[in-house]
Amino acid sequence: MILPVIMAGGAGSRLWPLSRGNRPKQFLPLVSCRSMLQETVFRLKGLQQHAPTLICNEEHRFITAEQIRQAQVINCKIILEPVGRNTAPAIALAALKAVEEGEDPILLVLAADHVIKNVNAFHDAIEKAKVQAEQGDMVTFGIVPTHAETGYGYIKRGAEASKNCFRVAEFVEKPALATAQEYLASGDYYWNSGMFMFKASRYLEELNAFRPDIYAACAEAIQEQTPDLDFIRVNKVAFEACPDESIDYAVMEKTERAVVVPLDAGWSDVGGFSALWDVADKDENGNVFDGDVVSVDTTNCLVLGDEKLVATVGVQDLVIVNTKDAVLVAHKDKAQDVKHIVNKLKADG
Ligand code: GDD
Ligand code: MG
Repeated sequence: MILPVIMAGGAGSRLWPLSRGNRPKQFLPLVSCRSMLQETVFRLKGLQQHAPTLICNEEHRFITAEQIRQAQVINCKIILEPVGRNTAPAIALAALKAVEEGEDPILLVLAADHVIKNVNAFHDAIEKAKVQAEQGDMVTFGIVPTHAETGYGYIKRGAEASKNCFRVAEFVEKPALATAQEYLASGDYYWNSGMFMFKASRYLEELNAFRPDIYAACAEAIQEQTPDLDFIRVNKVAFEACPDESIDYAVMEKTERAVVVPLDAGWSDVGGFSALWDVADKDENGNVFDGDVVSVDTTNCLVLGDEKLVATVGVQDLVIVNTKDAVLVAHKDKAQDVKHIVNKLKADG
């Protein structure tokens, strides 16, 4: 059976000041009244699956547990990381935990902060991927690229493995802009959606082959775990010693067993305010307003109010985010750079 593994340990710094240290993007209701994490869980309804395993930072254990309770998902496992070590170790913890329980489920690895508009198309892709994963493949879900985004992994389509599923000829994580432009022009590449499917044992074998250091640190961290109420707390010393690496660099760029299942389901990773504007419903002037907003002659803006009224006159393509303690004003095309503000604020203490 499928075991969904939901990675909920990211910082979401490109959505500052909405996304904050104690309440990052995955816990926010960005596109509906449910949080992104809750949307991720709801989207699984209708699939034959075990209760999901969640992996998050220890600091977020209560908000995670509370949001899952609200979503009425029972028997969820929540694995706590004392520090973030990126996605290769996070997935290893979930895989090791499953294997420890004497099972070898097919892991459906999901980010906790994506939008997928067409759930049926998503489920169809999962059913297709499951067949490949059962045969020992490492499945990625490929999105047809629309621009030369450098924040994504790129997957080169190889020979057909089965109907509408291809061997991965090359996987390149976050290429430089010129390379991304070449890939886009070639028409042979998909974006990596950041979701994966494989047997737990297969992932662990591949990780051990390419990054035995990460494998060993995670195995020790799980071996020395301490249960705490509903949480699984991995060993701090062992996990802190684990190298920080994403699954993309640690395994997906290197494995020979990768296949790609194309996914056309209205996917977005809501990687910034511009992407949030893209996926949201707009008014007749192309604006997305939330909260108390009054506007005159305003087009294609994203304005998120809080308790204060926000008024705009004669502006276009702006992002205005008003929270209790911070206000962001940015050009929509430059809103990605808000991460530099976060870095600046961190540096200034
Ligand atoms: N538990 C845990 N621990 N989760 C983590 C950690 C961690 O240390 N770091 C990140 N995550 C979670 C994030 O919350 C997110 O849901 C997911 O893992 C992916 O991490 P990101 O940090 O958002 O990755 P990315 O966006 O840079 O790149 C990945 O996603 C792209 C698509 O959105 C890669 O897989 C790219 O290849 C891909 O194109
Ligand atoms: Mg991301």
